[in-house]
Amino acid sequence: MSIEKRSFDTLIIGAGGGGLRAALQLAQADARVAVVSKVFPTRSHTVAAQGGVNAALANVLPDNWHWHMFDTVKGSDYLGDQDAIEYMCRAAPRVVYELEHFGVPFSRLDSGRIYQRAFGGQSRNFGGEQAVRTCAAADRTGHAILHSLYQQNIRARTHFFDEYFAVDLVCNEAGYFLGVLAIGIASGEPILIEAKTTILATGGVGQLFRTNTNALVNTGDGMAMALRAGIPLQDMEFFQFHPTGIAGKGMLITEGARGEGGYLLNGDGERFMERYAPNAKDLASRDVVSRSIATEIREGRGAGPGKDHVLLKLDHLGADIVKKRLPGIRDMAMTFLHIDPADAPIPVYPTAHYTMGGIPTNRHGQVVVPVQQGAEEPVPGLYAVGECACVSVHGANRLGGNSLLDILVFGRAAANHVIEHLGEHRYHQPIPEGAADQAMARLERWNRQGRGESVAQLREELARTMEDHCSVFRNQEVLQEGQEKVLALRERLQDACIDDHSRVFNTARIEAMELDNLMECAVATITSALMRTESRGAHSRIDYPERDDQHWLRHSLFSLEGHKMDYKPVRIKPLTVDSFPPRKRTY
Ligand code: FUM
Repeated sequence: MSIEKRSFDTLIIGAGGGGLRAALQLAQADARVAVVSKVFPTRSHTVAAQGGVNAALANVLPDNWHWHMFDTVKGSDYLGDQDAIEYMCRAAPRVVYELEHFGVPFSRLDSGRIYQRAFGGQSRNFGGEQAVRTCAAADRTGHAILHSLYQQNIRARTHFFDEYFAVDLVCNEAGYFLGVLAIGIASGEPILIEAKTTILATGGVGQLFRTNTNALVNTGDGMAMALRAGIPLQDMEFFQFHPTGIAGKGMLITEGARGEGGYLLNGDGERFMERYAPNAKDLASRDVVSRSIATEIREGRGAGPGKDHVLLKLDHLGADIVKKRLPGIRDMAMTFLHIDPADAPIPVYPTAHYTMGGIPTNRHGQVVVPVQQGAEEPVPGLYAVGECACVSVHGANRLGGNSLLDILVFGRAAANHVIEHLGEHRYHQPIPEGAADQAMARLERWNRQGRGESVAQLREELARTMEDHCSVFRNQEVLQEGQEKVLALRERLQDACIDDHSRVFNTARIEAMELDNLMECAVATITSALMRTESRGAHSRIDYPERDDQHWLRHSLFSLEGHKMDYKPVRIKPLTVDSFPPRKRTY
């Protein structure tokens, strides 16, 4: 069968903020760059980011990148790599000013400067008073950024393959990555997109959990492609549960709501965060707030008839602030709950939000694999940025406002590295005969008709299993049982079929391949969680309640083959300043 083939200098898989920031840098450097996206680019999940992007601009209160670095290291529960964190925090003001020049309509202070709000885990002077560091466009910051980046890319002539699904990476026998086999979702036709370098920017895997803040498309496609290509995933046990999802539904109510002065109440009307985090209170870091909410409910102090949520109170801010600073969450509360938060509190519960783990990279965005004890080397031709990558700036717990920063800083850094690479490598590596066979076989497998189990039902079971067995609190027995269930579901998927009715649409094949990807990521997540016998950041083991730096101050690496776990050291040494050694973490 002959397959259409297209060639570019660089191929980017994913059109969220990370992919588009990288694409823009490359296109402006006159590289031939293509972006493959399974949705129209401005529907990528970055569009849903609400509260803002962190940068120590000091527009409201004194601030500097070193304090930001300290907060990020502490927030990561000391698992973040301090060289990458220093790089990110230093670069933050520059990438935000670049956005301003790209046309992002940031909210403004009376002085005309970019508006900044307080977010969780932020401090001045290395753990002192609350900082105000999150640059915001009301509560629609991701929307503003994504649209501006897309428009800039159109102007720079980036080529877009809209509504194309990446099936699998293609590489030669020497392990050099050469591009991707994709399928046009409307046509069902395969296409081989060849490139000198490939950047994975496919986002996270929030669809692993039933209640989540993520777009339906966040199915871990890039992570699963990397796993199938023999690349281990790093730190997958660390999944962030955002404290304030709409109870029972999961949609995000931005941390910016607490940054503007909102606070949480339990069923007894008590401001319970004062007990768990006496200084930072409602603006403690996310893992702390989510655990506190879950504890209040477990101990019978929840709100509502089922005592199964807590309340986010905003009415004391006044209708003007709610309407001006939080218009998006007001709309959402009114649409889904018929509650105006300017009048009444919003019922909230922790909801799956962010994948801290992912494809291991260095700070140039190059995908890296271990070669011998402690050492690693770049995978030729392959990069990863944003939520699908693990660089690792978030360690065991990401601070709010650092994910938009991560995609901008490392999207840009990866592109700069690719530009250098392209200067030295002018020609494409030849694609050997049969290099795309495995990807084609995957595509064919999901063309099978019949009457097996339904893909949609298996996806729902997977999401319920992950929610029941790998949530805010975990223990050996629950994780073990969950792992068995996930492995059984994965077996059942092998026999699933696309039924004759839905098969007429290619979307049914795409959903099946997405579920395949989710399954790989689920096994990685629950196996890594089972193996880490300590509590750190978002990974909270009831049976191992303490952090154990002696044994576990290290990154995990999960490989698909044999479900093997490996470990590598945390990079404690920053680039230019002294390390922040692990300390007890209180807020
Ligand atoms: O709460 C929020 O607005 C989410 C921000 C983030 O995850 O960085």
